[in-house]
Amino acid sequence: MERQSHLDRQRTIHLGSFYTPNHIVQIVSRMLSNIIKNPQEYVLLDSACGYGSFLQLQGFKRNIGVDIDEQALIYATNHLREYQNELAQPPLLLHANALHHVCRDSFKILDTEKLVIVGNPPYNDRTSIVQNCLKNKEVCNIDLALKARDIGLSFLLSFNELQADFICVLHPLSYLIKSSNFRKLKSFARHYRLIDSLIISSETFCPKSSSFFPILIALYQRDVRGMDTHFIQNYHFKTFEEQSFCLNDFDFIAPYIDKYPNKKRITESQKVAMFYTMRDINALRRSKTFITKDCTNAVYVTHEKHSLYCYIDVFKMMLAHVPYYLGNCDIPIDYLSFKKLESHFILASETKKLSHEVQEYFQNLLGKHYQKEEDENEKF
Ligand SMILES: C[S@@+](CC[C@H](N)C(=O)[O-])C[C@H]1O[C@@H](n2cnc3c(N)ncnc32)[C@H](O)[C@@H]1O
Repeated sequence: MERQSHLDRQRTIHLGSFYTPNHIVQIVSRMLSNIIKNPQEYVLLDSACGYGSFLQLQGFKRNIGVDIDEQALIYATNHLREYQNELAQPPLLLHANALHHVCRDSFKILDTEKLVIVGNPPYNDRTSIVQNCLKNKEVCNIDLALKARDIGLSFLLSFNELQADFICVLHPLSYLIKSSNFRKLKSFARHYRLIDSLIISSETFCPKSSSFFPILIALYQRDVRGMDTHFIQNYHFKTFEEQSFCLNDFDFIAPYIDKYPNKKRITESQKVAMFYTMRDINALRRSKTFITKDCTNAVYVTHEKHSLYCYIDVFKMMLAHVPYYLGNCDIPIDYLSFKKLESHFILASETKKLSHEVQEYFQNLLGKHYQKEEDENEKF
Protein backbone atom coordinates (compact mmCIF):
# COMPACT_ATOMS: atom_id res chain seq x y z
CA MET A 1 0.00 0.00 0.00
CA GLU A 2 1.25 3.43 -0.93
CA ARG A 3 2.47 5.93 1.68
CA GLN A 4 0.03 8.70 2.46
CA SER A 5 0.83 11.54 0.06
CA HIS A 6 -2.22 13.76 -0.37
CA LEU A 7 -2.10 15.71 2.93
CA ASP A 8 0.33 18.37 4.13
CA ARG A 9 2.04 17.96 7.53
CA GLN A 10 -0.57 19.90 9.45
CA ARG A 11 -3.53 17.97 7.98
CA THR A 12 -1.65 14.68 8.45
CA ILE A 13 -1.29 15.40 12.16
CA HIS A 14 -4.82 16.78 12.40
CA LEU A 15 -6.30 13.54 11.04
CA GLY A 16 -3.65 11.22 12.50
CA SER A 17 -3.02 9.98 8.96
CA PHE A 18 0.07 7.84 9.54
CA TYR A 19 -0.74 4.90 7.30
CA THR A 20 0.27 1.35 8.10
CA PRO A 21 3.05 -0.38 6.15
CA ASN A 22 2.27 -3.75 4.64
CA HIS A 23 4.50 -5.84 6.94
CA ILE A 24 2.45 -4.61 9.92
CA VAL A 25 -0.84 -5.35 8.11
CA GLN A 26 0.50 -8.88 7.62
CA ILE A 27 1.08 -9.26 11.39
CA VAL A 28 -2.58 -8.33 11.97
CA SER A 29 -3.61 -10.79 9.27
CA ARG A 30 -1.62 -13.62 10.93
CA MET A 31 -3.01 -12.86 14.40
CA LEU A 32 -6.54 -13.02 13.02
CA SER A 33 -6.03 -16.20 11.03
CA ASN A 34 -4.63 -17.94 14.15
CA ILE A 35 -7.94 -17.40 15.89
CA ILE A 36 -10.60 -17.10 13.16
CA LYS A 37 -10.89 -20.30 11.19
CA ASN A 38 -13.97 -19.31 9.19
CA PRO A 39 -13.52 -15.66 8.11
CA GLN A 40 -16.36 -15.93 5.59
CA GLU A 41 -18.75 -15.78 8.59
CA TYR A 42 -17.43 -12.32 9.56
CA VAL A 43 -17.82 -8.79 8.23
CA LEU A 44 -14.48 -6.93 8.36
CA LEU A 45 -14.60 -3.23 9.27
CA ASP A 46 -11.88 -0.56 9.35
CA SER A 47 -13.62 2.60 10.55
CA ALA A 48 -10.56 4.80 9.89
CA CYS A 49 -9.41 3.11 6.70
CA GLY A 50 -7.25 5.74 4.93
CA TYR A 51 -6.03 4.22 1.65
CA GLY A 52 -7.48 0.89 2.77
CA SER A 53 -4.34 -1.06 3.76
CA PHE A 54 -6.40 -3.38 5.95
CA LEU A 55 -9.23 -3.79 3.45
CA GLN A 56 -7.08 -6.04 1.29
CA LEU A 57 -7.46 -8.82 3.92
CA GLN A 58 -9.12 -11.74 2.21
CA GLY A 59 -11.72 -14.36 2.96
CA PHE A 60 -14.25 -12.22 4.85
CA LYS A 61 -17.94 -12.02 4.05
CA ARG A 62 -17.65 -8.29 3.26
CA ASN A 63 -14.99 -5.64 3.79
CA ILE A 64 -16.15 -2.19 4.86
CA GLY A 65 -14.00 0.93 5.12
CA VAL A 66 -14.96 4.27 6.64
CA ASP A 67 -12.97 7.51 6.66
CA ILE A 68 -13.67 11.16 7.38
CA ASP A 69 -11.17 12.14 4.66
CA GLU A 70 -12.99 11.90 1.34
CA GLN A 71 -9.85 12.19 -0.74
CA ALA A 72 -8.28 9.21 1.05
CA LEU A 73 -11.31 7.17 -0.03
CA ILE A 74 -10.77 8.10 -3.69
CA TYR A 75 -7.20 6.76 -3.41
CA ALA A 76 -8.53 3.70 -1.57
CA THR A 77 -10.97 2.93 -4.41
CA ASN A 78 -8.08 2.97 -6.90
CA HIS A 79 -5.65 1.01 -4.73
CA LEU A 80 -8.14 -1.68 -3.87
CA ARG A 81 -8.76 -2.42 -7.57
CA GLU A 82 -5.48 -4.38 -7.39
CA TYR A 83 -7.18 -6.85 -5.05
CA GLN A 84 -10.49 -7.21 -6.88
CA ASN A 85 -9.78 -10.80 -7.93
CA GLU A 86 -8.92 -11.92 -4.41
CA LEU A 87 -11.88 -10.29 -2.60
CA ALA A 88 -15.40 -11.75 -2.68
CA GLN A 89 -16.69 -8.29 -3.62
CA PRO A 90 -15.19 -4.77 -3.79
CA PRO A 91 -14.97 -3.22 -0.29
CA LEU A 92 -17.78 -0.85 0.60
CA LEU A 93 -16.27 2.59 1.29
CA LEU A 94 -18.21 5.10 3.37
CA HIS A 95 -17.36 8.76 3.83
CA ALA A 96 -18.30 9.46 7.45
CA ASN A 97 -17.16 10.51 10.89
CA ALA A 98 -16.80 7.12 12.57
CA LEU A 99 -17.29 8.62 16.05
CA HIS A 100 -20.66 10.21 15.44
CA HIS A 101 -24.00 8.32 15.50
CA VAL A 102 -22.06 5.12 16.11
CA CYS A 103 -24.20 2.07 15.52
CA ARG A 104 -24.02 -0.90 13.18
CA ASP A 105 -26.72 0.60 10.98
CA SER A 106 -24.50 3.63 10.20
CA PHE A 107 -21.87 1.27 8.80
CA LYS A 108 -24.32 -1.00 6.94
CA ILE A 109 -23.77 -3.94 9.27
CA LEU A 110 -26.67 -6.07 10.52
CA ASP A 111 -27.08 -6.72 14.25
CA THR A 112 -27.05 -10.45 13.48
CA GLU A 113 -23.74 -10.38 11.63
CA LYS A 114 -20.42 -11.41 13.21
CA LEU A 115 -17.96 -8.56 13.15
CA VAL A 116 -14.18 -8.13 13.11
CA ILE A 117 -12.72 -4.62 13.45
CA VAL A 118 -9.21 -3.96 12.19
CA GLY A 119 -7.04 -0.91 11.62
CA ASN A 120 -4.84 1.76 13.02
CA PRO A 121 -7.19 4.43 14.36
CA PRO A 122 -5.80 7.94 14.76
CA TYR A 123 -4.54 9.05 18.16
CA ASN A 124 -3.18 12.23 19.60
CA ASP A 125 -1.76 11.42 22.95
CA ARG A 126 0.42 13.94 24.76
CA THR A 127 3.36 11.53 24.56
CA SER A 128 2.87 10.86 20.86
CA ILE A 129 4.72 11.96 17.77
CA VAL A 130 2.26 14.75 17.36
CA GLN A 131 3.72 18.09 18.31
CA ASN A 132 1.66 19.96 20.81
CA CYS A 133 1.39 23.15 18.80
CA LEU A 134 -0.06 21.35 15.81
CA LYS A 135 -2.45 19.13 17.68
CA ASN A 136 -6.03 18.79 16.65
CA LYS A 137 -7.77 21.41 18.73
CA GLU A 138 -10.88 21.29 16.55
CA VAL A 139 -13.22 18.82 18.15
CA CYS A 140 -15.18 16.93 15.55
CA ASN A 141 -18.61 15.73 16.57
CA ILE A 142 -18.16 12.79 18.91
CA ASP A 143 -20.98 10.86 20.59
CA LEU A 144 -21.15 11.77 24.27
CA ALA A 145 -20.35 8.24 25.46
CA LEU A 146 -17.17 8.23 23.37
CA LYS A 147 -15.68 11.57 24.40
CA ALA A 148 -12.08 11.29 25.64
CA ARG A 149 -8.90 13.37 25.86
CA ASP A 150 -7.41 11.24 23.10
CA ILE A 151 -9.30 10.40 19.90
CA GLY A 152 -7.77 6.90 19.86
CA LEU A 153 -9.51 6.11 23.16
CA SER A 154 -12.78 7.27 21.55
CA PHE A 155 -12.23 4.81 18.71
CA LEU A 156 -11.73 1.89 21.12
CA LEU A 157 -14.91 2.88 22.96
CA SER A 158 -16.73 3.00 19.60
CA PHE A 159 -15.71 -0.63 18.89
CA ASN A 160 -17.49 -1.67 22.07
CA GLU A 161 -20.62 0.21 20.92
CA LEU A 162 -20.49 -1.81 17.68
CA GLN A 163 -20.15 -5.03 19.71
CA ALA A 164 -17.41 -6.45 17.52
CA ASP A 165 -16.59 -10.10 18.14
CA PHE A 166 -12.86 -9.53 17.54
CA ILE A 167 -10.81 -6.35 17.35
CA CYS A 168 -7.28 -6.31 15.98
CA VAL A 169 -5.92 -2.77 15.95
CA LEU A 170 -2.80 -0.74 16.63
CA HIS A 171 -2.88 1.66 19.57
CA PRO A 172 -0.39 3.22 22.01
CA LEU A 173 0.56 0.78 24.77
CA SER A 174 -0.12 3.64 27.18
CA TYR A 175 -3.88 3.03 26.73
CA LEU A 176 -3.53 -0.14 28.79
CA ILE A 177 -0.67 0.64 31.15
CA LYS A 178 -1.48 4.20 32.21
CA SER A 179 -4.19 4.15 34.81
CA SER A 180 -5.82 7.42 33.64
CA ASN A 181 -6.24 5.98 30.12
CA PHE A 182 -7.33 2.56 31.31
CA ARG A 183 -9.97 4.13 33.56
CA LYS A 184 -11.34 6.00 30.54
CA LEU A 185 -11.60 2.68 28.68
CA LYS A 186 -13.83 1.21 31.38
CA SER A 187 -16.74 0.19 29.13
CA PHE A 188 -14.34 -1.30 26.58
CA ALA A 189 -12.27 -3.16 29.20
CA ARG A 190 -15.42 -4.60 30.75
CA HIS A 191 -16.25 -6.43 27.50
CA TYR A 192 -12.92 -7.22 25.82
CA ARG A 193 -9.89 -9.32 26.70
CA LEU A 194 -6.44 -9.11 25.14
CA ILE A 195 -5.71 -12.53 23.63
CA ASP A 196 -2.64 -11.80 21.50
CA SER A 197 -0.38 -8.80 20.95
CA LEU A 198 2.97 -7.48 19.79
CA ILE A 199 4.70 -4.22 20.66
CA ILE A 200 6.29 -2.23 17.85
CA SER A 201 8.10 1.11 17.97
CA SER A 202 6.52 4.37 16.81
CA GLU A 203 9.69 4.60 14.72
CA THR A 204 7.78 2.50 12.18
CA PHE A 205 5.58 5.53 11.52
CA CYS A 206 7.85 8.46 12.36
CA PRO A 207 11.49 7.47 11.90
CA LYS A 208 12.69 11.08 12.19
CA SER A 209 11.19 11.62 15.62
CA SER A 210 13.64 12.33 18.46
CA SER A 211 12.15 9.69 20.78
CA PHE A 212 9.93 6.70 20.23
CA PHE A 213 7.05 5.19 22.14
CA PRO A 214 5.54 1.70 22.17
CA ILE A 215 2.56 0.86 19.98
CA LEU A 216 0.61 -2.32 20.64
CA ILE A 217 -0.77 -4.48 17.86
CA ALA A 218 -3.60 -5.81 19.98
CA LEU A 219 -6.04 -8.64 19.34
CA TYR A 220 -9.09 -8.47 21.61
CA GLN A 221 -11.96 -10.93 21.90
CA ARG A 222 -15.34 -10.01 23.29
CA ASP A 223 -15.44 -11.78 26.64
CA VAL A 224 -17.61 -11.34 29.73
CA ARG A 225 -14.50 -11.54 31.93
CA GLY A 226 -13.12 -8.36 30.37
CA MET A 227 -9.80 -7.00 31.71
CA ASP A 228 -8.86 -5.32 34.97
CA THR A 229 -5.60 -3.73 36.15
CA HIS A 230 -4.52 -7.05 37.70
CA PHE A 231 -4.84 -8.66 34.24
CA ILE A 232 -2.74 -5.90 32.62
CA GLN A 233 -0.11 -5.92 35.40
CA ASN A 234 0.39 -9.66 34.91
CA TYR A 235 0.16 -9.75 31.12
CA HIS A 236 3.36 -10.81 29.33
CA PHE A 237 3.91 -8.29 26.56
CA LYS A 238 6.02 -9.46 23.61
CA THR A 239 7.94 -7.04 21.42
CA PHE A 240 8.84 -7.04 17.74
CA GLU A 241 12.50 -7.40 18.83
CA GLU A 242 11.62 -10.72 20.51
CA GLN A 243 11.79 -9.37 24.03
CA SER A 244 9.05 -9.75 26.60
CA PHE A 245 8.17 -8.13 29.88
CA CYS A 246 5.48 -7.98 32.49
CA LEU A 247 4.76 -4.85 34.53
CA ASN A 248 4.85 -6.96 37.67
CA ASP A 249 8.51 -7.79 36.94
CA PHE A 250 9.34 -4.31 38.26
CA ASP A 251 8.83 -2.20 41.32
CA PHE A 252 8.18 1.46 40.44
CA ILE A 253 9.04 4.69 42.18
CA ALA A 254 5.52 6.17 42.42
CA PRO A 255 4.63 4.76 45.87
CA TYR A 256 7.85 6.10 47.41
CA ILE A 257 7.66 9.76 46.36
CA ASP A 258 5.39 12.58 45.22
CA LYS A 259 5.33 12.81 41.42
CA TYR A 260 2.97 15.80 41.29
CA PRO A 261 2.89 19.18 43.07
CA ASN A 262 2.55 18.61 46.81
CA LYS A 263 2.72 22.15 48.18
CA LYS A 264 -0.43 21.69 50.16
CA ARG A 265 1.24 19.00 52.30
CA ILE A 266 4.89 20.00 52.42
CA THR A 267 5.72 23.26 54.14
CA GLU A 268 8.49 25.68 53.13
CA SER A 269 10.50 24.66 56.20
CA GLN A 270 10.37 20.96 55.28
CA LYS A 271 11.53 21.67 51.73
CA VAL A 272 15.21 21.01 50.95
CA ALA A 273 14.93 21.09 47.13
CA MET A 274 12.43 21.29 44.28
CA PHE A 275 11.84 18.84 41.47
CA TYR A 276 9.85 19.13 38.26
CA THR A 277 6.57 17.16 37.99
CA MET A 278 7.11 13.62 36.75
CA ARG A 279 5.13 11.45 34.43
CA ASP A 280 6.59 8.43 32.65
CA ILE A 281 10.08 7.52 31.40
CA ASN A 282 9.54 9.23 28.05
CA ALA A 283 8.39 12.43 29.72
CA LEU A 284 11.57 12.33 31.83
CA ARG A 285 13.60 12.33 28.60
CA ARG A 286 12.23 15.81 27.89
CA SER A 287 11.61 17.28 31.30
CA LYS A 288 13.79 18.92 33.89
CA THR A 289 14.66 17.20 37.20
CA PHE A 290 15.84 19.44 40.08
CA ILE A 291 14.78 23.07 39.65
CA THR A 292 15.80 26.20 41.51
CA LYS A 293 12.84 28.42 40.68
CA ASP A 294 9.43 27.67 42.15
CA CYS A 295 6.59 27.15 39.64
CA THR A 296 3.18 25.47 39.47
CA ASN A 297 4.83 22.20 38.40
CA ALA A 298 7.28 22.17 41.29
CA VAL A 299 7.29 19.21 43.65
CA TYR A 300 8.72 20.03 47.08
CA VAL A 301 11.41 17.60 48.19
CA THR A 302 11.90 16.79 51.88
CA HIS A 303 15.20 15.73 53.45
CA GLU A 304 13.79 12.27 54.04
CA LYS A 305 12.97 11.73 50.33
CA HIS A 306 15.88 13.66 48.82
CA SER A 307 17.92 10.58 47.84
CA LEU A 308 14.95 9.18 45.89
CA TYR A 309 14.77 12.32 43.76
CA CYS A 310 18.55 12.05 43.25
CA TYR A 311 17.81 8.52 42.04
CA ILE A 312 15.45 9.88 39.37
CA ASP A 313 18.00 12.51 38.38
CA VAL A 314 20.57 9.73 37.92
CA PHE A 315 18.04 7.51 36.12
CA LYS A 316 17.67 10.32 33.57
CA MET A 317 21.40 9.97 32.85
CA MET A 318 20.84 6.29 32.06
CA LEU A 319 17.94 6.76 29.62
CA ALA A 320 20.01 5.74 26.59
CA HIS A 321 20.02 2.24 28.11
CA VAL A 322 16.25 2.01 28.46
CA PRO A 323 14.44 0.47 25.46
CA TYR A 324 11.54 2.28 23.77
CA TYR A 325 9.03 -0.36 24.89
CA LEU A 326 9.40 0.68 28.54
CA GLY A 327 8.95 4.36 27.60
CA ASN A 328 5.44 4.69 29.03
CA CYS A 329 6.27 2.98 32.31
CA ASP A 330 6.96 4.76 35.54
CA ILE A 331 10.59 4.86 36.74
CA PRO A 332 11.59 1.38 37.98
CA ILE A 333 13.49 0.90 41.21
CA ASP A 334 14.95 -1.94 43.26
CA TYR A 335 14.36 -0.30 46.61
CA LEU A 336 16.58 -2.51 48.79
CA SER A 337 19.57 -2.29 46.42
CA PHE A 338 18.99 1.45 46.09
CA LYS A 339 19.05 1.87 49.88
CA LYS A 340 22.44 0.14 50.04
CA LEU A 341 23.82 2.60 47.46
CA GLU A 342 21.94 5.68 48.65
CA SER A 343 25.07 7.83 49.13
CA HIS A 344 26.33 6.84 45.67
CA PHE A 345 23.12 8.13 44.08
CA ILE A 346 23.32 11.44 45.96
CA LEU A 347 26.92 11.90 44.85
CA ALA A 348 26.15 10.88 41.25
CA SER A 349 23.34 13.42 41.11
CA GLU A 350 25.60 16.17 42.46
CA THR A 351 28.66 15.39 40.34
CA LYS A 352 26.92 13.93 37.26
CA LYS A 353 29.43 11.10 37.45
CA LEU A 354 28.25 7.52 37.87
CA SER A 355 30.21 5.20 40.11
CA HIS A 356 30.83 1.65 38.94
CA GLU A 357 28.34 0.44 41.57
CA VAL A 358 25.60 2.71 40.24
CA GLN A 359 26.20 1.54 36.68
CA GLU A 360 26.05 -2.06 37.84
CA TYR A 361 22.84 -1.33 39.74
CA PHE A 362 21.15 -0.19 36.49
CA GLN A 363 22.44 -3.19 34.55
CA ASN A 364 20.92 -5.46 37.19
CA LEU A 365 17.71 -3.44 37.41
CA LEU A 366 17.03 -3.58 33.66
CA GLY A 367 18.52 -7.06 33.19
CA LYS A 368 17.82 -8.34 29.66
CA HIS A 369 16.24 -4.96 28.83
CA TYR A 370 19.48 -3.02 29.43
CA GLN A 371 20.50 -1.52 26.10
CA LYS A 372 24.11 -1.07 25.24
CA GLU A 373 24.85 2.27 23.63
CA GLU A 374 25.62 2.11 19.92
CA ASP A 375 29.38 2.52 20.23
CA GLU A 376 29.40 -0.12 23.01
CA ASN A 377 27.60 -2.49 20.62
CA GLU A 378 30.36 -2.07 18.08
CA LYS A 379 32.89 -3.41 20.58
CA PHE A 380 31.03 -6.72 20.78
C1 LIG B 1 -3.52 6.23 11.19
S1 LIG B 1 -4.55 6.50 9.78
C2 LIG B 1 -4.90 4.84 9.39
C3 LIG B 1 -5.34 4.60 7.99
C4 LIG B 1 -5.39 3.13 7.60
N1 LIG B 1 -6.28 2.37 8.44
C5 LIG B 1 -4.00 2.54 7.68
O1 LIG B 1 -3.72 1.91 8.70
O2 LIG B 1 -3.20 2.72 6.76
C6 LIG B 1 -6.00 7.14 10.53
C7 LIG B 1 -7.13 7.49 9.59
O3 LIG B 1 -8.23 7.91 10.40
C8 LIG B 1 -8.98 8.86 9.68
N2 LIG B 1 -9.85 9.57 10.63
C9 LIG B 1 -9.50 10.52 11.54
N3 LIG B 1 -10.58 10.90 12.26
C10 LIG B 1 -11.63 10.15 11.81
C11 LIG B 1 -13.00 10.07 12.15
N4 LIG B 1 -13.52 10.83 13.14
N5 LIG B 1 -13.78 9.21 11.46
C12 LIG B 1 -13.28 8.43 10.48
N6 LIG B 1 -11.99 8.48 10.10
C13 LIG B 1 -11.17 9.31 10.76
C14 LIG B 1 -7.91 9.69 8.98
O4 LIG B 1 -8.46 10.38 7.88
C15 LIG B 1 -6.88 8.61 8.61
O5 LIG B 1 -7.11 8.15 7.31
